[in-house]
Order: sequence, then C-alpha cells, then structure tokens
Amino acid sequence: MIDSLVRKNIRDLKPYSSARSLYQKGVFFDANENALGSAVKLQGYPELNRYPDPYSGELRKALGEFLGVSEKNVFAGNGSDEIIDLLIRVFVEPSEEIIVLEPTYGMYKVAGDTAGIKVKVCPLNSEFQIDLPSLWNILSPATKIIFCCSPNNPTSNLLRREDIEKMCKRFRGIVVVDEAYIEFASQPSIGNMATGLENLVVLRTFSKAWGLAGIRVGYAIADEKVLNYLDKIKEPYNINKISSTLAIKALREKDTMLGFRKVILEERERMSKRLREMGFTVFPSEANFLLVKYPTSSKIAKKLAEESGLIIREFGNKKLLENCVRITIATPEQNKLLLNSLEKLI
Ligand SMILES: Cc1ncc(COP(=O)(O)O)c(C=O)c1O
Repeated sequence: MIDSLVRKNIRDLKPYSSARSLYQKGVFFDANENALGSAVKLQGYPELNRYPDPYSGELRKALGEFLGVSEKNVFAGNGSDEIIDLLIRVFVEPSEEIIVLEPTYGMYKVAGDTAGIKVKVCPLNSEFQIDLPSLWNILSPATKIIFCCSPNNPTSNLLRREDIEKMCKRFRGIVVVDEAYIEFASQPSIGNMATGLENLVVLRTFSKAWGLAGIRVGYAIADEKVLNYLDKIKEPYNINKISSTLAIKALREKDTMLGFRKVILEERERMSKRLREMGFTVFPSEANFLLVKYPTSSKIAKKLAEESGLIIREFGNKKLLENCVRITIATPEQNKLLLNSLEKLI
C-alpha cells in the first residue's frame, strides 16, 4: 500500500547521493571539507570538519535498542517538525489534502499550507477526543495523511488508542500520531504498534521530557517502507554531529529524564489543585502543561507578561479553547511565583 500512496515524482526520484553515502572509510578528497581541521573544537565530540553520517546510523541504532524496535523502523529528524514536513512532501500531491484534528499543534497546518495543499479540519469532540463519524464523513480519496497528537497539544489529553487503531485500519492513507509529550502520560507509547501497522507513523522527540529542545532531534517510528521514502528526500546531513552525539548520550541518562518526569508530574498535580482552588477550570493533563480556563484568562495572560514578565500561552477565541490559556509546568520555584502572581491578579 505504501508505494501506491507516495507521490509519483518521489517514487521516481533519483535521490542525491552525498559523498558520505557513497564512501564511509578512506582518506577523503571527495566532499570539499577542510582537511586541516576546524576553527573550533569540542572536547569529546567527533571531528567537526567532516560531514556527519547521512543516515545517523549510530543514533538510529541507539534509538532502536532504547525503544526495543529494529533500527530500520526508526528515522531521526532535525526535530519532529522536520519529519512532519517530510511526510507531507513524500505523500501529498499538490491536488491532495491532509486532515488535522483541531485544536492541536499548529505545525501540521503550517506545513500543509506551506506545501500549498488543502488542509481539512476535523474538530475534536467536546471531550477533546477524535470525532470518528465526522472524520469518516470528511475523508475523501484525496486525503493522504491524518495528523493526530497524543497527548494532544494544547488540550493535554491522550487520544483513545482504539480510535487510532480504527483509523489505521479504515483509512487508506497515513496516520501520524505525534507523541511529543508521551513521557508524561499515564499510558505507554504506541510506537511498537507502528512496526506492525504499515500506515502508522509515531513521532517522538528529545525536546520535551529529555530537556533537549536546543539540539533539535526528533524521531519517527514506522514501517521501513515509509522511512525509506523519508530517507530518499531528506537533506543529505539532516542531523549534525553534536546533536546526534548528545542524543545518544541522553539515552544513557534515562534516570535523569525520569527524575525530571517525577518533578513535573508532582508539580502538575500541585498546580492543578491550587488553580482549581482559585476558581480556574483545569483540564486533566497527561503532558507537561495545563490547559486552564477562566473568563478573563486573556487579560490575565497579558497582565502577567507586562507586569511580572511571566509568559503563558493564550489562544484568543479559537474553537473549543475560548478563554483558555496553556501553562507549561516549570521549576517548583517558578511555579510558585506564577501561582502567587495569578492569585494577586484574580
Ligand atoms: C505536539 C508537538 N509536536 C512536535 C513539537 C516540536 O517538536 P520538535 O522540537 O521535535 O520539532 C511540538 C513542540 O512544541 C509539539 O507540541
């Protein structure tokens, strides 16, 4: 099924063959690098005057081991944002479309709009779950990808696993499940499901629980056929050496990540409780942020920024998010500061 879903020009494309994809060993005269060295050196990192491995092999291997899947089912991207863009470019012809389940992470729509394709919106239901009957209604033969986010940003809930399975089985296209916040959730990743379901692509990232947003590494877990197409069109050296070295190191620091998780979950609980006591509606969260509703939340957000330099995210009058703000769980001290400032403001 995957080959038939791929854009014709991508199927026929002869990919760029980078110097390091042709030869990995030898004395290199083939890539116009600076053989004398680099202007700056970083202790403990591979030589930076040479291009990185185009395949990010060590990182994929480490991720495969960490996740308990074959490295062939893992693709590393320059943030998951890169992978969202690549998926659209592999699968969606200019005359075709994607579906986004709003309210959700804004980049699916931006990537679709940038590609000049149609972006159809299927609103989540009042419980922020997938409205399957409406989804079946708006599906068309031109629909190539459905983007889902679980736990969803900004509603903070997990999508029902059964609904995702139903979508994968019924929809003859690609189902993307973005699990950027899964480490904070009460249920495990569905990454393993992606190795058995040809059309499921699960996205994960080092930007959230691992605390590595600055290195820009995200990854996809999916069928090998899908990932081969991503490899075919990605930029030759999409992950730099510093980022891949740090991502591999991070995987050996799982306890540190779990330590962050513990603090964030405790703080999430504490903040939810305090905010509810103050009269805010706080939606149950499976992520490292809270979706909070209050009649004057927009004004409060502006005042917090202007008077205290405390920045929270507001959504204006977006459907289902009226009077809502999103608050990222920060350090216990910062959270205290925010709660105290909020208390004064209301
Ligand atoms: C749902 C979701 N997916 C992806 C991203 C971006 O991930 P990355 O930093 O890996 O590009 C974000 C960032 O906020 C997000 O909320």
